[in-house]
Amino acid sequence: MPTSPISIPADKLPRHVAIIMDGNGRWALSRGLPRLAGHKAGTENLRRVIRSTVEFGVKYLTIYAFSTENWGRPMEEVRGLMSILEDVIDRELDELNKEGVQLRHIGRLERLAPKLQEKVLDAIELTKNNDRLVLNVAFNYGGRDEIVHAIQKMIKDGIAAEDVTDDLVSRYLYTAGVPDPDLIIRTSGELRVSNFLIWQAAYSEWYVTPTYWPDFDKEEYRRALEAFARRDRRFGKVSSSELEASNA
Ligand code: FPP
Repeated sequence: MPTSPISIPADKLPRHVAIIMDGNGRWALSRGLPRLAGHKAGTENLRRVIRSTVEFGVKYLTIYAFSTENWGRPMEEVRGLMSILEDVIDRELDELNKEGVQLRHIGRLERLAPKLQEKVLDAIELTKNNDRLVLNVAFNYGGRDEIVHAIQKMIKDGIAAEDVTDDLVSRYLYTAGVPDPDLIIRTSGELRVSNFLIWQAAYSEWYVTPTYWPDFDKEEYRRALEAFARRDRRFGKVSSSELEASNA
């Protein structure tokens, strides 16, 4: 099906989209394939979604690729996800760099193999001055772990209790310097936060679709952005039109 051009005014476009790429396993199972085949199809889709993100003009994209809880999956699947990260860096880095994508990592690198840690750090260094799209890869990431890490670091830095503010906490998170996600997309229909960006998502809008991640295409991405553009974001306040009506 041909995709329609995006018709969203720039001020209604999310600055930051975050995605829980869920449903790879079920996608594979429904085709009689091993779970890893689902992750591979999910990786192909990720490549398309990154391209669409650049095309749509969204400036920040965060993807949930491996959570702190995913270590509990069968060893073969964990190893497969590690090798997917390595392959993605090996095969896609040049192209991403040419496209102006700045790669960042959120989460803990420590538990990854030293060679993989090095590849991630080299990719971050290579792309650090790119500014067309900031791509945060959440890998060995957990929202609670991120907050624990931030508190530990604040204590080590000798921050006084009275100096702890919303803004300071944000600056101690892995996402320091990145605006909070405006829109979080979750594929495969689950209505859960799953320890993803739990601090940063305080006022994010959610778009949940039953589509499995490998099938989440450009057309549906566009629909998610259009749905976001129609939302009335109030951040706990009342909308300006409502305020005007009540003052009239
Ligand atoms: C959730 O689906 C998906 C994941 C845990 C991994 C997501 C990874 C990719 C899309 C590959 C891209 C990865 C990198 C490293 C760039 P699930 O397995 O929980 O699906 P299920 O709920 O149907 O079992």
